[in-house]
Amino acid sequence: MSAQSISSKVSSHLYYLKFLKRINMNHLWPIAALSKCLFILIFTYSSNIILAQKFENLAPTPPMGWNSWNHFACDINEKIIRDVADALVSSGMKDAGYVYVNIDDCWHGKRDSLGFIHPDPERFPSGMKVLADYVHSKGLKLGIYSCAGAKTCAGYPAGRGHEYQDALTYAQWGIDYLKYDWCNTDGLNAVGSYTTMRDALFAAGHPIVLSLCEWGNNKPWEWGADVGHLWRTTGDIYNCFDCIKDHGTWKSWGVMYILDMQDGLRKYAGPDHWNDPDMMEVGNGMTVNEDRAHFSMWCMLAAPLIAGNDLSKMSADVKNILTNREVIAIDQDKLGVQGFKYSSKDSVEIWFKPLANDEWAMCLLNRNSKAQEISFDWMNEKVTDDLSRRSANFNAVPYNLRDLWKKTDVGTTKKILSVEIPGHDVLMFRLTKIK
Ligand code: GLA
Repeated sequence: MSAQSISSKVSSHLYYLKFLKRINMNHLWPIAALSKCLFILIFTYSSNIILAQKFENLAPTPPMGWNSWNHFACDINEKIIRDVADALVSSGMKDAGYVYVNIDDCWHGKRDSLGFIHPDPERFPSGMKVLADYVHSKGLKLGIYSCAGAKTCAGYPAGRGHEYQDALTYAQWGIDYLKYDWCNTDGLNAVGSYTTMRDALFAAGHPIVLSLCEWGNNKPWEWGADVGHLWRTTGDIYNCFDCIKDHGTWKSWGVMYILDMQDGLRKYAGPDHWNDPDMMEVGNGMTVNEDRAHFSMWCMLAAPLIAGNDLSKMSADVKNILTNREVIAIDQDKLGVQGFKYSSKDSVEIWFKPLANDEWAMCLLNRNSKAQEISFDWMNEKVTDDLSRRSANFNAVPYNLRDLWKKTDVGTTKKILSVEIPGHDVLMFRLTKIK
């Protein structure tokens, strides 16, 4: 609903209120009483129409930023968040597109006697409004975390039954992004719970990105586009390339496992509604090759790029990966179409992603720990994508090839591509039609 139609609805409500006042003054009280009932009915009904929506166009391309969980877990405080904001600016990450500074679980203090939530007074003594002002003063945005259950995953007070109150609080603090988790929700309906939070945020009137962290349990890709701007497709990521971490009652997943779980989901994603394969583990302990492969594949998936590393101790390699603008441009491409696996042979997968202006991204992923040689004869290949109705017939139309990690042009599709891909690494190209 546009701002114009909201304001025309509001002015028609006001007009009607004036009309009621006039007939009240004429002592036509039975008509007035009836009219009041009618007004309440109409107002409730049309207000619901006004409120029943998400804030549109907050994520035309996948959101980019940083989140505290993957590195700091519960060990957070306002100094860490301020330092992250500073580091996003000084490292060049802000200029590369990372704008959200997202505080995950464990920022919470208690609810007061009226039920309003407050931050932990020891960890966040200055309060969230002051922190948000600081983050905003750097040209960045502040994100926060809560959960649809009564308690967050780490056991802090969460949203259930307090949705409208919390939304109002976040609006007053100037929060720009809410990650809404799914712990302690036995018996709750996912669509209903997330829709309630969406409506509460909209009613509070402050634009806020809503990130559904429901882990894919209730197929949020099937209903999430109307509710939020991104939805987690899986359980938690773990900082390894292809392992599973068993926590006893639950598991977290290495990068390759998460990648495989995206199969079949690309048709659900697009501008303002993205599949979220979880926040990145780049810089959290994998090798440089693995970090590069992880980052490249997230860009091929048009995934939200939420860094999760300690920015105060970022190596040059990690910084170069996270700020490679040519690779980021693949993720942020305006067409907003998620990439797909084109072929898979001997542990080498070849992925394509259609881009705006008839371009393509191509990524060759070596899942093996040993280097692999491959040769790709363009003349025998035709890439067709039914979702975007795009195809590339290299036999008929040649393309220039730009290596996005070397940042150089490396030839054309007129010549067979013969390359070696290091273990657990990628080669990534942008294909541009030769005019
Ligand atoms: C869940 C989420 C994680 C993180 C933690 C915090 O596990 O999936 O991303 O937010 O909760 O407790």
